[in-house]
Amino acid sequence: MFNVDKIREDFPILKRTVHGKSLVYFDNAATSQTPQVVIDTIVDYYSNYNANIHRGVHTLSQEATDKYEEARIKIQKHFNAEKAYEIILTSGTTHGINMIASGFASLLKTGDEIIVSALEHHSNIVPWQMLCEKTGAILKVIPMDEDGTLRMDIYHELLTNKTKIVFCNHVSNALGTINPIEEIIHAAHKFGAAVLIDGAQATPHIKPDVQELDVDFYVASAHKLCGPTGVGVLYGKEEWLQKLPPYQGGGEMIETVTFDKTTYAGLPHKFEAGTPNICGGIAFGAAIDYMNSVGFETIASYENELLEYATSKLLNIEGLKIYANNKCKTAVISFNVNDIHPYDIGSILDKLGIAVRTGHHCAQPIMDFYKIPGTIRASFSFYNTKEEIDVLVAGVKRATMMLS
Ligand code: ALA
Repeated sequence: MFNVDKIREDFPILKRTVHGKSLVYFDNAATSQTPQVVIDTIVDYYSNYNANIHRGVHTLSQEATDKYEEARIKIQKHFNAEKAYEIILTSGTTHGINMIASGFASLLKTGDEIIVSALEHHSNIVPWQMLCEKTGAILKVIPMDEDGTLRMDIYHELLTNKTKIVFCNHVSNALGTINPIEEIIHAAHKFGAAVLIDGAQATPHIKPDVQELDVDFYVASAHKLCGPTGVGVLYGKEEWLQKLPPYQGGGEMIETVTFDKTTYAGLPHKFEAGTPNICGGIAFGAAIDYMNSVGFETIASYENELLEYATSKLLNIEGLKIYANNKCKTAVISFNVNDIHPYDIGSILDKLGIAVRTGHHCAQPIMDFYKIPGTIRASFSFYNTKEEIDVLVAGVKRATMMLS
């Protein structure tokens, strides 16, 4: 039986107050909160075995290296990658996407085509536009519908033999839509195109199996799934990671260096130049253990209950509109009330101790589609409660009255 009160005890921050009110944290899509076991892992690292990895024969360095590589294996198992060296530790999703977009510059030529979805975060648009500027490749967009889903009929028409890579998020950060990535991957492969999936918003709710998906690249951030900021994962199929050039030059990514020629290290080190976020990587492993101890099926089913409860309560508020209120979504509600600016409602909610994100959510094309400046986004996690949703609903009603 899922016991949310017991779960909440794992998160010290949930006990704090904001402006004299109990914190109601509904900005989980921006970053999740951190359980004590992950905080303890961070303290343990800096208290007991802080050292650089892969470099020293001394005990501390070996201990840190072992823990870091153990974390890589935890991440490999979690995503079901075939090989540990297909797991590249990055600074986060944006870093992973930039690594691949930059690497593809050596593979593309003028007139090649790449496909993006209309539901992307800026981090999965801008690096590809930069790639097009460098190579002369053409960017095509899978359009979206009013209900926040992708026009898959048009996607199939966009694919041609010139398509080299397709990139799409697994879940939209602004709307919560779960995209049909299996179909996207399968169709792209028929044309020999690679597929990169941005899993930043999916991984807190869904456990992806990269082998079953047959995806070429899958990227995510630790801080969305109870881990620290500044660390993330890039999964890449070995054949692709071998083909792509390194992203950065530096220490650790080399085999030999002379002034005439440098040879690169094997995977994963070829893509891990410089001292990584060692503590972050180890804490990422601890966060994955924690999330799995709660269980992703339990998480999904409880969050779905929260989503349904919040949706029905919010829709009772006159003038409130939910964007992309479709069936296939994670526990994210993006809404506006009448013509009130989302920022104004968000500021009043903050005074009531409620944290939501307001604005364009780094997804301006989605806001342009709906012809709005932004939305109020409440994003739920498994440590949230229905009582907190009642506080949000009361807060939105109060803000609406004050601002109407
Ligand atoms: N990408 C994060 C969000 O959607 C920051 O809020």
